[in-house]
Amino acid sequence: EKGGYEHFMLKEIFEQPKSIADCLRGRLDPKSGRLVLGGLRDYMNKFNNAERIIITACGTSWHAGLVAEYLFEEFARVPVEVEYASEFRYRNPVITDKDFIIAISQSGETADTLAAIELAKSKGATIFGVCNVVGSSIPRTTHAGCYTHAGPEIGVASTKAFTAQISVLTMMALKLGYQRGTLPESKYILMLHELADIPAKVEKALQTNDAVKKIAEKYKDARNMLYLGRGYNFPVALEGALKLKEISYIHAEGYPAAEMKHGPIALIDEEMPVIFIATLDSSYEKVVSNIQEVKARKGKVIAVVTEGDKQVKALADHVIEIPPTNEAFTPLLSVIPLQLLSYHIAVMRGCNVDQPRNLAKSVTVE
Ligand code: F6R
Repeated sequence: EKGGYEHFMLKEIFEQPKSIADCLRGRLDPKSGRLVLGGLRDYMNKFNNAERIIITACGTSWHAGLVAEYLFEEFARVPVEVEYASEFRYRNPVITDKDFIIAISQSGETADTLAAIELAKSKGATIFGVCNVVGSSIPRTTHAGCYTHAGPEIGVASTKAFTAQISVLTMMALKLGYQRGTLPESKYILMLHELADIPAKVEKALQTNDAVKKIAEKYKDARNMLYLGRGYNFPVALEGALKLKEISYIHAEGYPAAEMKHGPIALIDEEMPVIFIATLDSSYEKVVSNIQEVKARKGKVIAVVTEGDKQVKALADHVIEIPPTNEAFTPLLSVIPLQLLSYHIAVMRGCNVDQPRNLAKSVTVE
């Protein structure tokens, strides 16, 4: 049942205020300063004392893992490695019983992720799952875990599962930071309040839909697109590019914005749309210079900016405004217009958005 929406993907994009709220419900309580993650209870010591966190996943779930790398390192000061499950499992990786492994998977059935878990388990590491499908194989194999509670995701392109994964990982990082004493209590409480406001801000980010549709109309015939972001928004750039590729079949690449000058800048001409995530955060000024570099080469710039932005607005061909939030939570908002952009472009190109060619919802073969 598509609930009045034309496609499952659009329904799932619009469900995000609710799916994120469902994910936070019963876990996050800013008033009492409590963050309860039931799945962590029995493994809290292992988590607190972990010398390293290794995150393993595939595709969009791997992108959520990259966001988590920034979160865990910033708040909990634990070294994090983010690994494609398919590479990790065959590399003879160094894993010890001091490692805390987080496996992220919407379906809970991805073959490479399952194999990576088995390998890490055989080396004595603690394995924690962040999955959406209850009772699937990964939650049954891990020592402990946290469900994302996003509800069934039918569209092959992952949307609400991604933001729910980031929500769980954010709670884990805040909790770990608080417990390890690397995140002071006052800041911790502020962050909990800010996180509780995210569903309402996602609702506002969804109001960009009409504006995004107009932009889609202009760029639907592009052959290539480049997605650039920095810091917390670098993984969002990768995710935006993946969404576009998989459902519209337009070639797209995501890059950390500063890497542009090491190669991709050669691609820029008046035919090349470049999507920047240029929210007001610690890398804003640097991203603004990257936008200037693209404009100097006549590239078309579409920028996701913070409400009220002036500097980028003066440079970009199109801006899409999202509400302000703590820098660490921006991926939950900045990814929304990118999901919408890929959706509208794919529909305008006559693509089967819910079941793109060659793709399956769960990849149970390696
Ligand atoms: C992208 C997409 C895939 C999955 C990947 C992992 O939209 O859906 O890239 O993210 O196949 O799947 P899960 O999360 O089920 O392990």
